[in-house]
Amino acid sequence: MSEARIDLKSIPRHIAIIMDGNGRWAERRGLSRIEGHRAGLESVRAVVRGARELGVRWLTLYAFSLENWNRPKSEVDELMRLLERYIELEIDEVLRNGIQVRTIGRSDRLPASVVAKIGGAVARTRENRDMTLAFALSYGGRAEIVDAVRAIARSVEAGVLEPEAIDEKCIQANLYCKDMHDPDLLIRTGGEHRISNFLLWQLAYTEFFSSDALWPDFTKSRLVEALCAYQQRERRFGRTTAQTRETGS
Ligand code: FPP
Repeated sequence: MSEARIDLKSIPRHIAIIMDGNGRWAERRGLSRIEGHRAGLESVRAVVRGARELGVRWLTLYAFSLENWNRPKSEVDELMRLLERYIELEIDEVLRNGIQVRTIGRSDRLPASVVAKIGGAVARTRENRDMTLAFALSYGGRAEIVDAVRAIARSVEAGVLEPEAIDEKCIQANLYCKDMHDPDLLIRTGGEHRISNFLLWQLAYTEFFSSDALWPDFTKSRLVEALCAYQQRERRFGRTTAQTRETGS
């Protein structure tokens, strides 16, 4: 897939990715699931680099869901190790490339070493402005909405917010990243067509692209393929085609 086909002036501002298929990739090769996750780490490195080169402003990766805590302990432990490994391997390049690291999710369940390593990366990259790389970690879309509702309820209880003042903006302001622009494009690898409790609030008008590639086979050229498909879409946000063409958006 050639990059020449991409219109660099309409790169999606925010891409969110459900990285699926590590286990199947490994099973097809007679390897353990853990080997699949290790191979998946290389795709994370390639896609972060590729997204930055293409001028994507925000990339959110579904690294570990709340439901993933139910996987065998050995697999969970390896996924945690890989997250630490990613930071160790990439932090210098991430810093150099102007990338800001963030996390979303219920971090209270994460091992202290992961919290420390990711927290260090978040602190070191805080001033970077060229791209934001958000890891959804111990993340669930419904849990995020529950956490926002609890925060809003506390404000009402404290008398600083009127129930009538609760609107979409107020809910947005209480999500994990209040300044996160809704994703323009959601990519799911592994050929599945599910949202799997990812960014439920934010995906309301996001374009969805399902890639047949298993995550360890998802390279920059696969990312380019997804972007080309995105650029063929007409985003109407509830309006008619004629209205959309009139305003050019
Ligand atoms: C889903 O594939 C993938 C995950 C649960 C974890 C994603 C983790 C990585 C890509 C490893 C490194 C991550 C970072 C952020 C450094 P699956 O195991 O459900 O695959 P399957 O559907 O084929 O079983």
